[in-house]
Amino acid sequence: MNVSFRIFDKQDIDAVLAIEQLAYEIPWNRAQFSQSLVNPNTLAHLILKENQIVGYSVALQTPDFTDLLNICIHPKFQHQGLGGQLFDYLLSESGARSIFIEVRASNRNALFFYKKLGFELINIRKKYYSDGEDAKILRFSISDKLE
Ligand SMILES: CC(C)(COP(=O)(O)OP(=O)(O)OC[C@H]1O[C@@H](n2cnc3c(N)ncnc32)[C@H](O)[C@@H]1OP(=O)(O)O)[C@@H](O)C(=O)NCCC(=O)NCCS
Repeated sequence: MNVSFRIFDKQDIDAVLAIEQLAYEIPWNRAQFSQSLVNPNTLAHLILKENQIVGYSVALQTPDFTDLLNICIHPKFQHQGLGGQLFDYLLSESGARSIFIEVRASNRNALFFYKKLGFELINIRKKYYSDGEDAKILRFSISDKLE
């Protein structure tokens, strides 16, 4: 499988939006991607298979940690290890010791995925989302892995 990675740039937004709309019930819109990409603290990557965009990640870097805002693989290409590879790539590019993510409590696929990667549940924010759903706050910590 010929997999590669590159920076997610604004000319990629159309391809990313097409995947986003297939993968999420409540997808990000164009403005959310555009605003993220102009922020100098954003780390955004694409994963490509045979030169076709099949997934992406958008994360916000702070001096102490990385906030993973969106990670997504095209539904046709899920469960093939691509999400894990994209996460490993983000980890190596960010150099972060901790990565945080908020996940909808009902997103079982993502919760399995993060558990497999080594994330731990650190908090639940009740009714965090505008539709009233709770958010689970997960943390991946490199120092925990090394100890
Ligand atoms: C979450 C997501 C990025 C995972 O990507 P993926 O490419 O399917 O994940 P991988 O194939 O790398 O899976 C890695 C591991 O996660 C676990 N996993 C992933 N999906 C799972 C599922 N539905 N059930 C159980 N375990 C699952 C497995 O342990 C898997 O390892 P294995 O294949 O060796 O068993 C993908 O499902 C996705 O894009 N979902 C829609 C968008 C989304 O919800 N993003 C997260 C928002 S917080």
